[in-house]
Amino acid sequence: MNRKDLLGLYDLSAEEIEEILTLGLSYKAALKRGEKEHSALKGRSVITLFYENSTRTRTSFELAAKFLGAKVVSISVATSSVQKGETLVDTGKTLDAMKNDVIVIRHPMGGAPKLLADTVKAHVVNGGDGMNEHPTQALLDMLTLKEHLGSIKGLKVAILGDIRHSRVAKSNLYGLTKLGAEVRLFGPKTLLPEGLEREGAIVCSSREEAVKGADAVMGLRIQLERQKAGNFPSLGEFAKYYGVDEQVLSHAKKGALVLHPGPVNRGVELSSGVIDGAQSHIEDQVLSGLAVRMSVLSLLGKEERA
Ligand code: NCD
Repeated sequence: MNRKDLLGLYDLSAEEIEEILTLGLSYKAALKRGEKEHSALKGRSVITLFYENSTRTRTSFELAAKFLGAKVVSISVATSSVQKGETLVDTGKTLDAMKNDVIVIRHPMGGAPKLLADTVKAHVVNGGDGMNEHPTQALLDMLTLKEHLGSIKGLKVAILGDIRHSRVAKSNLYGLTKLGAEVRLFGPKTLLPEGLEREGAIVCSSREEAVKGADAVMGLRIQLERQKAGNFPSLGEFAKYYGVDEQVLSHAKKGALVLHPGPVNRGVELSSGVIDGAQSHIEDQVLSGLAVRMSVLSLLGKEERA
């Protein structure tokens, strides 16, 4: 991969995605062996700049950078000069002036990472921007699929729930279709935007149709903070008509992987039985996330090391 920034999977080629996954798988194997000391980012600095809440994404980026030998600083937006009215571009210039190498940004506005990337010298990694993309989440989902199922090509992946507000669904749609998977989407009509077929998705009209014979079933968190009331009657009703329980899962391929980016609303997107069941890979996804972020950070920093 020879690019300054990672902003989304829409722009990446299948070869670049494969390169990230291959290196990610070797980092995951190393993590499983307890190896946490690498030198790919030795002498470099990484700053995380999160304008939205996060547990796993932020923590795994920070651990990934530390395991690669970088110095890591985490900016808490709530106590930074952002509260004094500093613009994103000016914050970026300030961080550049400190000779920082990488900024990982999460922002409620789609396009914010691109705006930052266009103005700073540092590498910019998108840790989730509004309803647009969350590339490292989709990469960790793909890494989990590749590890357990061998190859992404030809897989049938069902993604269910709040597609409209989900940057995870969008990045997965772009990435999975590039690698030759079939992506089926289902959710309430109010949460299924128009035009998804143009991006290669199969939009289904029932849960069963989406899940039938699938190799993997992904639930998405209901994005309560991103919607005005009225897209569906209640969480209980959502669970009843759009959630995945054991009965719905039984339509998938035997042993199909259950995925969810977290945080899960237990009993809404997925039943507790499915979350804690043998097919659930939700915790395994977290380790994949650490590994794939190590891969992305080390590939972006590559040219300076040469
Ligand atoms: C996702 C996010 O923030 O986009 N979570 C995550 O990164 N693990 C999904 C979500 O919050 O619903």
